[in-house]
Amino acid sequence: MPTPHEDFENLRVFRHPLIQLKLTQARDHRTPTLQFRRLLNEIAGLMTYEVSRQFPTREVEVVTPLEKTVGTALARPVTLVPILRAGIGMTDGILNVMSEARVGHIGIYRDEQSLKPVAYYAKYPPDIAEGPVLLIDPMLATGGSAIHAARELKKRGCRDIRLICLVCAPEGVRAMGEAHPDLLVYTAALDRQLNDRGYILPGLGDAGDRIFGTQ
Ligand code: PRP
Ligand code: URA
Repeated sequence: MPTPHEDFENLRVFRHPLIQLKLTQARDHRTPTLQFRRLLNEIAGLMTYEVSRQFPTREVEVVTPLEKTVGTALARPVTLVPILRAGIGMTDGILNVMSEARVGHIGIYRDEQSLKPVAYYAKYPPDIAEGPVLLIDPMLATGGSAIHAARELKKRGCRDIRLICLVCAPEGVRAMGEAHPDLLVYTAALDRQLNDRGYILPGLGDAGDRIFGTQ
């Protein structure tokens, strides 16, 4: 299970060795696009195994080739909401272990000068508020993008929102805790700080560019 962070009530850090060794490989500047993408998806799948433990289930009847029995189904629909672009880089890994989930999208980029989020796209299942939402973005830096996305989801009635990211900065976790104290942030690492361009240190660079080979 991810452990609650001693300084941030809203933060859960995955210390599992498989997640940590894959994160280390993803941080390495020599890791090429194809491998970087694979690592992010593998980490996302491992995280989902634990995060989904808390999803409500219900009993359902199933008929085997031999007889009727009782099985398990999700009690409420789960929706993944990757923040475009980089959130896409973790989505397949989550769907690999939770194919039942639907996928909404929210497009947000950071203005390079102001570091403020600029939203440009949104599409969600109409009943998104009926169940848990996993907001997905590998990087929580200033927190502006994820805070904006959570606000948009709440406007649509969503109440059970969790953020899955790979690396976060203390500045972003603090800002998220102030803006959305009810939202838990799941991460593989809490890094040291932001640099003067809003990049996470030590971080892993620009996640979107590394996923899509656009650097
Ligand atoms: C990156 C990242 C987050 C955001 C984090 O996206 O994927 O969405 O920055 O920064 P913040 O916490 O300070 O808002 P970017 O703006 O580079 O867009 P991209 O995914 O389209 O490359
Ligand atoms: N976005 C990224 O992709 N990387 C960072 O370090 C900060 C924001």
